[in-house]
Amino acid sequence: MSESSTAPNAQPKAALPVVLGVVLLVVFGGFFLIEFVGSSISSGADEETPASADAYRERVDALLANADPSRAEALLVQYNCLGCHRYAGEAVAPQFTGIAARAAERRPPMPADAYIYESIVHPGAYVVEGYQNSMIQNFESQISDQDLGDIIAYLLTPDAN
Ligand code: HEC
Repeated sequence: MSESSTAPNAQPKAALPVVLGVVLLVVFGGFFLIEFVGSSISSGADEETPASADAYRERVDALLANADPSRAEALLVQYNCLGCHRYAGEAVAPQFTGIAARAAERRPPMPADAYIYESIVHPGAYVVEGYQNSMIQNFESQISDQDLGDIIAYLLTPDAN
């Protein structure tokens, strides 16, 4: 009989730490979630943007106006594009072979030249399925307009590789 009189009191006492534990979990879990979401938003990657037919039109026309595709092979080496796009293999980055035709189909109604420009300068705006957004995010600030135009013009040729 003496045991049964302590039983009703024992339960709330045992439950208190459990309730506190759950409250702490929820509170800290919430903080972690906010931290995690916040840091992934601010981690530098561009957000995906919808495709449009005339995005980047003036900029791309200006880049291509005096472009010389014959300079591009050396530039792709200089800027180490080929480290990923030729030598690392298809699993790391899409090969450039056939890029001109593919670029025209990737983001309809966006034309091939605008797509290639966007891929290089805003790589996070559209990430090719099956790949990571691993390209440098601020490349436009590190390359001259001439070099960028030359690379785009070359990638628009059917024998780019
Ligand atoms: C660290 C590896 C890496 C480097 C270096 C790199 N890229 Fe990429 N690139 C990728 C990956 C991965 C993708 C596919 C994911 C995406 O869409 O961003 C990609 C996508 C592209 C695409 C679109 C390809 C397609 O099939 O749609 C183009 C164009 C491109 N890169 C050009 C370049 C150029 C030009 C350079 C050099 C200035 C370069 N990349 C440097 C990894 C790289």
